[in-house]
Amino acid sequence: MGKKFETIAVRTRIKQTPEKENSSPLFLTSGFTFDNAEHMRAAFTDEVEANIYSRFSNPSVKEFEDKMALLEGTDAAYATATGMAAVFASFMAFLKAGDHVVSARAIFGSTHTLITKYLPKWGIEHSYFPAEGWSASPRESLRTGGDGSNLHGIEKLIRKNTKMIFVETPSNPGLEIFDLESIGKIAKRHKLIYHVDNCFATPYLQQPVKYGADIITHSATKFIDGQGRVLGGAVCGKKELIKEIYLFCRNTGPALSPFHAWILSKSLETLAVRMDRHCDNALKLAEHLSKHNEIGTVNYPFLASHPQYKTAKKQMKAGGGVITFTIKSSPKDESRKADGYERAKKFMDALDMISLSANLGDTRTIATHPASSTHSKLSEAEKKAAGITPGLIRVSVGLEHIDDIIDDIEIALKSSKK
Ligand SMILES: Cc1ncc(COP(=O)(O)O)c(C=O)c1O
Repeated sequence: MGKKFETIAVRTRIKQTPEKENSSPLFLTSGFTFDNAEHMRAAFTDEVEANIYSRFSNPSVKEFEDKMALLEGTDAAYATATGMAAVFASFMAFLKAGDHVVSARAIFGSTHTLITKYLPKWGIEHSYFPAEGWSASPRESLRTGGDGSNLHGIEKLIRKNTKMIFVETPSNPGLEIFDLESIGKIAKRHKLIYHVDNCFATPYLQQPVKYGADIITHSATKFIDGQGRVLGGAVCGKKELIKEIYLFCRNTGPALSPFHAWILSKSLETLAVRMDRHCDNALKLAEHLSKHNEIGTVNYPFLASHPQYKTAKKQMKAGGGVITFTIKSSPKDESRKADGYERAKKFMDALDMISLSANLGDTRTIATHPASSTHSKLSEAEKKAAGITPGLIRVSVGLEHIDDIIDDIEIALKSSKK
């Protein structure tokens, strides 16, 4: 019987050196040496397997890649300097001028910029779903089927030159859930590359490969590092696809630092226990806030009120470590007719323990105001379509005691009412 997720995460390692170390060593080196000129020549023509230069490969990076591939259930993985480098490489390695991408509209801000600003510069077109009849507003999604994927709408967007279908689930920051299985069937029927950003779920909560994903990208900066220290990314998939990613990255340069890879590989050893606690704390906070009379809406995939709750339950082991909510405007709040932004700002300023930061997936609980920070480059219409309202607050729920997280939020809610 194959080893379980937790065991793979802890025990996958590069070969022990003659020193017999128990923790994998860090190979902090830019280049590698050869026995002689012939060995060097053969390494460059792939006649022998050898590390040449850390932009191409490195043992510390390889350990991280091997673990990521095993945990995602794919043949291979390639590690990148950041999550955006992983997403970018996955577009550039497979798309050319004249191609078309169908993507979910609810995606991370920089990915949206990449799709709408840079891909068109290189002659690559895109269409976003939601398509006709679909709405990013949770209430309307319920009316239109509620699985967040509007499969009919997606199929209508597919053209002769469509090459890839891209989704991020749960999405950042709207926490929209897309039905991986149904979208996988569409991708297969139309022979499209099925590309899933699995950053919010991590392979511990969801394995897109089970639903036919060809390419799975990660920002390892988030829950994979999990301690807010280093940037990193990964692309997982079939061997032949990862070879294309490798060749693109080898020649363009977004290599992961061996030091970061060493940290990330160690971090993966604790991913399962950390994710269990993140999800536990996030669910408790979401439940607490959903009963709170100061709170407008609460969004969390494992709350029964989430419009895609059934899909989340089907494809995720737990709801993840991120929740979003809005606060009701107080009677004294001059902006109450407006949009909730003033109250959100006051609330953020009143937080004491919880950090204000753009990152997420840290041990430390973090509050972010997406409309004015991570997603500020989106137009007002784009924000609306992605469910990023002016009052929306995103909380990445950390590993502090849940009572202390709730206390901090309660105090800030009280003080922001004044
Ligand atoms: C879903 C998602 N994908 C990709 C990225 C980009 O990752 P990085 O910041 O490591 O480049 C992020 C960052 O927040 C993200 O949330």
